[in-house]
Amino acid sequence: MTGWRPGERRADSASMLRVDQAGEYGATRIYAGQLAVLRANCAEAKLISRMAAQEQRHLGRFDRLIAERGVRPTALQPLWNVAGFALGAVTALISPEAALACTDAVETEIDRHYGHQLDDLGDDDPELSADIADFRADELEHRDTARQAGATKAVGYPVLTAAIRAGCKVAIELSKRI
Ligand SMILES: [Fe+2]
Ligand SMILES: [Fe+2]
Repeated sequence: MTGWRPGERRADSASMLRVDQAGEYGATRIYAGQLAVLRANCAEAKLISRMAAQEQRHLGRFDRLIAERGVRPTALQPLWNVAGFALGAVTALISPEAALACTDAVETEIDRHYGHQLDDLGDDDPELSADIADFRADELEHRDTARQAGATKAVGYPVLTAAIRAGCKVAIELSKRI
């Protein structure tokens, strides 16, 4: 790491974009895993399909920015492919409420993560900040939707969500660097 010099961006936009693209990719894989398990016409599957389409929009935008700016994507993509899908499938196998608790937990961490990024970015990168703020609003809406639809009724909700949130934190730290 080199020190900040006048005229340089303070925030490391490349690392932010790397972790954000990884996170949105992971989100699409979680929802794919859930939708593979849930009955296609159940209420939860309908909610999750709508959220999955929004994650696809987030991912598409970060994919474009990564390409435009020549940022290296995370080398951990194959891991997030499998781990995301497995997390989604396992939570959906436990129960539809556990699938929603997964969304609740993941979006809670993503909201915190995007909030920290917006603080770090300040006025350095208005293009990236605008996307993050836009997507953050969607993630918060996903979290609230999941809670209203019964996430907190999942058996072992406190333990389940704490474990998933801890996993998200590890995934975020890894994807910033690798
Ligand atoms: Fe997203
Ligand atoms: Fe989301």
